[in-house]
Amino acid sequence: VVRELEESCATPIKKLRQVADAMAVEMHAGLASEGGTKLKMLISYVDNLPTGDETGLFYALDLGGTNFRVLRVQLGGKEGRVVKQEFEEVSIPPQLMTGGSDELFDFIASALARFVASEGEDYHLPVGRQRELGFTFSFPVRQISIGSGTLVKWTKGFNIDATVGEDVVAELARAMERQGLNMRVSALVNDTIGTLAGGRYHDEDVVAAVILGTGTNAAYVERAEAIPKWRGLLPKSGDMVINMEWGNFSSAHLPVTEYDRALDDESLNPGEQIYEKLISGMYLGEIVRRILLRLAKEAALFGETVPEKLLVPFVLRTPVMSAMHHDRSSDLDVVGTKLKDELGISSTSLRVRKVVVQICEVVARRSGCLAAAGIVGIMKKVGRDDAGEEGSRVPRTVIAMDGGLYEHYAMVSATVQCTVKEMLGEEATDSVVIKMANDGSGVGAALLAASHSQYLELEQ
Ligand code: BG6
Ligand code: GLC
Repeated sequence: VVRELEESCATPIKKLRQVADAMAVEMHAGLASEGGTKLKMLISYVDNLPTGDETGLFYALDLGGTNFRVLRVQLGGKEGRVVKQEFEEVSIPPQLMTGGSDELFDFIASALARFVASEGEDYHLPVGRQRELGFTFSFPVRQISIGSGTLVKWTKGFNIDATVGEDVVAELARAMERQGLNMRVSALVNDTIGTLAGGRYHDEDVVAAVILGTGTNAAYVERAEAIPKWRGLLPKSGDMVINMEWGNFSSAHLPVTEYDRALDDESLNPGEQIYEKLISGMYLGEIVRRILLRLAKEAALFGETVPEKLLVPFVLRTPVMSAMHHDRSSDLDVVGTKLKDELGISSTSLRVRKVVVQICEVVARRSGCLAAAGIVGIMKKVGRDDAGEEGSRVPRTVIAMDGGLYEHYAMVSATVQCTVKEMLGEEATDSVVIKMANDGSGVGAALLAASHSQYLELEQ
């Protein structure tokens, strides 16, 4: 079973190149027409990224990662000075992820209201002004302006029918009103867009952002002329940031196994987000659980009886998988303890523990390699995968990266890094840099709220 798994998950460079090529082809298709394509290539209405001159007090609200976050920041202008910032993290009660729309938005609006009430004297809002907010909403949204957009579908663990097709800014605005909170959403952004904006604030060579967390996605700066479906005027900058929604990518070249197919069939969104289900933190532990379950049933890996807990979907979380995978002790103590504490499997032999580590390795390696192929696909699309003329070099190209999987799963991040290098030609390998964007999309969303403030003209 393990050998069969290794074969079906294999990601030789040739296959990864096919995945990268297919990604670039799908990017073209998604830019050409609205609907019917795997990659939605959503237009973000962000045609200018932060310059560093942004000033004032702004809030950000970040929904869709592991935690829900609220943040306030006093921007000082003068080339990227954050005078002060604070944030608070709240976990979303799981029942709210699949309940009613009002319940979810009331929950986030009330957390925001409490946070606003705690604003100290170090923050300055000119008299008579309304507080403004950047809303990071990490799900596919079809925008009609920077400040509004309708939810295309939920992804990850969320599933609330009533919100699909609704303007999420209007939903939030109504909830804020119910909370008596007077605030305006100046920018609605995906987490990839916020991360790109935050990344650009610190480094002007940032051209793309990738999230490897609960879900996975990427955004990048495209030339507006290269977006046939764009019907608006050409922006002055000539650029438009695109939210790829790459989690929904699929291709015959992807190494999909029977475990992935079963996971997909039983998921909240069957047939969708196939790439995400192979890569992201929400699913890796669950894939490992499914493999262990088969080994328990067919090869009595854990003894005569199948451990009961192993039958429970999502019981094996990716952080636990990561802890087992990174166990460096000679008798794999951590693996033994985790199997016992998390899955109720006691007294495992070293041989069994080694098998568990091997499975984690196969699943994590495939995740990192496929994410790297996606990044190379973007580099191809923007012409940063090779230098063109002989002797010339690819300009410095930075990818801002965020998400718990990349941050905490060292084997995955190391695989992403070295696979990108391996896939890119020699001319590009030193120029393309993946940079961890520590504060994620928080400050990025606040910066975009600042550059789309209703008071901007008054200040100029
Ligand atoms: C955070 C960003 O740092 O990372 C969020 O601020 C993003 O916008 C999140 O959604 C993704 O990571 P995870 O692991 O929480 O899904
Ligand atoms: C899911 C969402 C996407 C988000 C990503 C990372 O793929 O659909 O919008 O960017 O997760 O959080």
